[in-house]
Amino acid sequence: MTDQASDKRVLLIVGGGVAAYKALELVRLLRKAGVGVRPILTKAGAEFVTALSLSALSEDKVYGDLFSLTDEAEMGHIQLSRSADLVVVAPATADLIAKAAHGLAGDLASTTLLATDKPVLMAPAMNVRMWLHPATQRNLETLKADGVSFVGPDDGAMACGEFGPGRLAEPPVIFEAIMEALAGPAAQSSKRGPLLGKHALVTAGPTFEPIDPVRGITNRSSGRQGYAIAGALAKLGARVTLVSGPVALPTPFGVDRVDVETARDMLAASQAALPADVGVFVAAVADWRIDEVFGTKLKKDKGGPPALTFVENPDILATLSASGPRRPKLVIGFAAETNDVEAHARAKLARKGCDWIIANDVTEPGVMGGDENAVLLISKDKTERWDRAAKDAVAHDLAQRIAESLS
Ligand SMILES: Cc1cc2nc3c(=O)[nH]c(=O)nc-3n(C[C@H](O)[C@H](O)[C@H](O)COP(=O)(O)O)c2cc1C
Repeated sequence: MTDQASDKRVLLIVGGGVAAYKALELVRLLRKAGVGVRPILTKAGAEFVTALSLSALSEDKVYGDLFSLTDEAEMGHIQLSRSADLVVVAPATADLIAKAAHGLAGDLASTTLLATDKPVLMAPAMNVRMWLHPATQRNLETLKADGVSFVGPDDGAMACGEFGPGRLAEPPVIFEAIMEALAGPAAQSSKRGPLLGKHALVTAGPTFEPIDPVRGITNRSSGRQGYAIAGALAKLGARVTLVSGPVALPTPFGVDRVDVETARDMLAASQAALPADVGVFVAAVADWRIDEVFGTKLKKDKGGPPALTFVENPDILATLSASGPRRPKLVIGFAAETNDVEAHARAKLARKGCDWIIANDVTEPGVMGGDENAVLLISKDKTERWDRAAKDAVAHDLAQRIAESLS
């Protein structure tokens, strides 16, 4: 990869966020791999890192001003926008994302994003509320539809003191995403890893069962563990289909995501994704749905609370575990338990017919919706108790175990 990378160039736009300092580390990693880096530092970005640091690390001139006679004489802004193989925005602030989504071109960074004919990769970083705001989420969808790729953001504690998605992906992860993007469409064939040529199906998040057009039944699953597993499997070279319930998480790099709402939709999307070598069923699927969904919004004044009757949903794990030609070679279920974790999980393994159960005690603080997990890996003949760790670390270890099992 490094040999091929040596003749590649990245145009790196550094936006105005606290995480801009991480762009310096990213430049260092890229230069070490032989990738050329030409930085554009926005006016706000220059409040956080200096042009001098960026220039010294990139060994190139730093551009910042759209109306600089000197810069224009040296290289016009249109030429600049095309002077690299890939445009990277890190950190991609809410502002830069919004400008790009709306085609604004009021400064050098946004003009470059509008004028470029090269692929664009963005690494967003912002406060969790800014990230989750419908305006930002709309802008992301627009950019994704325009073909822009994203890496991150991560979950966790933020400089502003809040917690959640919005933290810039770590520089090595952005670096990997850049190297993959630079390798281009041929990357899939030159992609390496023990899971190369394998297809992984992962379900994640909650399901949502409607009651009427505005209400429904769901649960507290954040989708983080399933998303982390999908990302970890992709990193090991697998082709990954992620069937996701409604969550506010970015799609991990290199993962194909199918969005669904109900348990029945999730089963249909999972079946449509088969065949797969491994199925990892992490989603918290509703056991029941409302028998008959009300066609109009239920009103308070209609003689007291409505009587809701439930019917059982299809059992996705049991259905896809059932033997047959389309059963994944390795079927892994997740069990969220609140008591007698091992006994319940072992009973689930037998009942569902899967190969492994990853069990966690969701009464432990910080597990349901948090960023850590303490799991048991239960197979037919043994139980392993894994130390409490970040969901990313659990995902990484599980992906390695899957790779060993499929090899
Ligand atoms: C201390 C501080 C930290 C900020 N951090 C972020 C951030 O992490 N993400 C973000 O989207 N905006 C952040 N902002 C707001 C942006 O700097 C502001 O929206 C700016 O106009 C973005 O400029 P840009 O388009 O050049 O990135 C921050 C502002 C301040 C004062």
